[in-house]
Amino acid sequence: YNLLIDAGIKKGMHILDIGCGRGDVSFLLADMVGIEGSVLGLDLDDNALEIARKHASDHVLTNVDFIKSDLNELSIDNRQFDAIVGRRVLMYLPDPRRVISELSAMLKIGGIMIFQESDSTLSSKSIVPMPLHKQVDKWIWDTVEREGGNIHIGFDLWSLLTQKGLIIEKLQAEAVVQTPDKPLPRAMIVKLMLPRIIKTGVATENEIDINTLEDRLTEERENTNAIYIGEIVFLACARKIG
Ligand SMILES: C[S@@+](CC[C@H](N)C(=O)[O-])C[C@H]1O[C@@H](n2cnc3c(N)ncnc32)[C@H](O)[C@@H]1O
Repeated sequence: YNLLIDAGIKKGMHILDIGCGRGDVSFLLADMVGIEGSVLGLDLDDNALEIARKHASDHVLTNVDFIKSDLNELSIDNRQFDAIVGRRVLMYLPDPRRVISELSAMLKIGGIMIFQESDSTLSSKSIVPMPLHKQVDKWIWDTVEREGGNIHIGFDLWSLLTQKGLIIEKLQAEAVVQTPDKPLPRAMIVKLMLPRIIKTGVATENEIDINTLEDRLTEERENTNAIYIGEIVFLACARKIG
């Protein structure tokens, strides 16, 4: 929320949320732009879009809409947006530079693009050895990579956004720090990703042993009583200047 405020999201803006998934970011934006503004969420996953649309209708949200579209074959009429936002989506695109260039054409002059992307390059770090935490992160990142995701996208953001008509206003990276009393729900994420982890051949059900994973992670945290950095999150903002 604060990142979006700092990036200049304001009441009355018309925003495109690319790769909106279930709409978590779209709903946050819809709240920020108010009824004078609007948010259009775009994704190609029917199931995610259905969940997003249901949430919007259950909460009678009239300033947010969702459409099915493939970013690799963009064809959104000539609507112009004040801001284009994407969270954890560029990493899945085979040619993000081209997509950014096409999105730029849909941005008003003076409009802003805001991307938040996770990056594995500096992740899985601890001073005290935490092998199970490292193993879990490796399962997650290896799966995304085998599915074609770019797990070093953060380091590519500068060159991706250095394009004609755009000026990078902010590029920052923040470590996600886990402490023994504030862990991330890693076992839950592994549980959600389990079919994908197995399908990509990253690990077997026996190796993961999902029913005991949460307890084993807790035990490792309690035994080490140390900080662990699971991932680095990059934020990039670029303004359209021409
Ligand atoms: C990790 S999820 C992030 C969802 C949402 N931005 C969030 O942060 O909650 C990535 C999303 O990008 C979507 N996506 C991936 N490739 C896409 C493409 N070519 N066109 C449209 N959406 C795409 C996926 O369907 C998925 O919903």
